[in-house]
Amino acid sequence: MASASRSASSTTFITRSATSLASEFVKARVYSARLVHEPLGLRAVIHTVLPRMGNRDTGFFPEQGIGSFQKGHSRIPFARSVIDLHAHILPGMDDGAPDLEASIAMSMTAVAEGIEIVAATPHVNRDYPPDARAMAYAVGALNVALARLEVALAVLPGGELAMATAREMDDETLRAFGLGGGSCLLLESPYGGELPWLEDLTADLQERGFRPLLAHPERSPLFQEDIERLSRLVDRGVLCTVNAGSMTGRSGDAARDCALEMFRRGLAHAVSTDAHDNARRPPRLGNAFESLEPDLPGVSKLDHWCTKDAPAAILGGDPLPERPALAGARGRRLRRIFSRSGE
Ligand SMILES: [Fe+2]
Repeated sequence: MASASRSASSTTFITRSATSLASEFVKARVYSARLVHEPLGLRAVIHTVLPRMGNRDTGFFPEQGIGSFQKGHSRIPFARSVIDLHAHILPGMDDGAPDLEASIAMSMTAVAEGIEIVAATPHVNRDYPPDARAMAYAVGALNVALARLEVALAVLPGGELAMATAREMDDETLRAFGLGGGSCLLLESPYGGELPWLEDLTADLQERGFRPLLAHPERSPLFQEDIERLSRLVDRGVLCTVNAGSMTGRSGDAARDCALEMFRRGLAHAVSTDAHDNARRPPRLGNAFESLEPDLPGVSKLDHWCTKDAPAAILGGDPLPERPALAGARGRRLRRIFSRSGE
């Protein structure tokens, strides 16, 4: 009798657990599906859902791996509230996270860094041909996994499009890779070549209703040697996101100098992690702005604008908010850049 009672009780427990799990799963799927398929709901997610998700109240230790996650274990005093527009966080899509476990570990690091929203931007190029369906599925799968672990990170769709590939893509395919389901396209800045058609490409995309956002132009020899060319593109409405690693010098002096000059001239609209893994290129901003302070005093005033305000506007398809002024923040002159650009 006692045994039958125990059995009935455990059956009830299992049924309740299964029901609860299924309900969580359905909710997570609905949530992630909304992120993927309802770009118009994005503004609501940014302004309504995320502030309530409360990642400041979740406690976990990314360095110790997924097993260390303990709900409500501690309160981490985040100083930041970040939107990362460039990260190779989706599992098995490119040279970023190889599998879901790696994606989750990166996500935990991102949350510990104060990142609340990340646009997943797998490479789209000759090596990784456009596959919007696989990207959207991976976004959904990662959001479901994160929701079940109660990791408060929203992963949005996107892609980092090689310019030569973007040139050949039709509107429908391009739209599928828009950041957050919107009209902004992240274009990978070229590492070589003159690209005489670059201006025509960005103008053509703009005419077709897209908003080009150059990924790490500071790493491109094209712009390192001719910052005026970048400046003209920005004048025509092209946006730029700088890698945090370039600002700290991790990508070399030329990239750091160019990033510095971009901030001095007002050519940087966002700062992203361009994360690829959890060790060598993790989703961290680190002390990116602080490391530029000695050369450009006051540049840290742009931290919140570049990591939250402007990215939110970019995702929402809104005009950029007013950029904080860098009064007196002229910094030292970069002769190497100026000498090539004629100043
Ligand atoms: Fe990238």
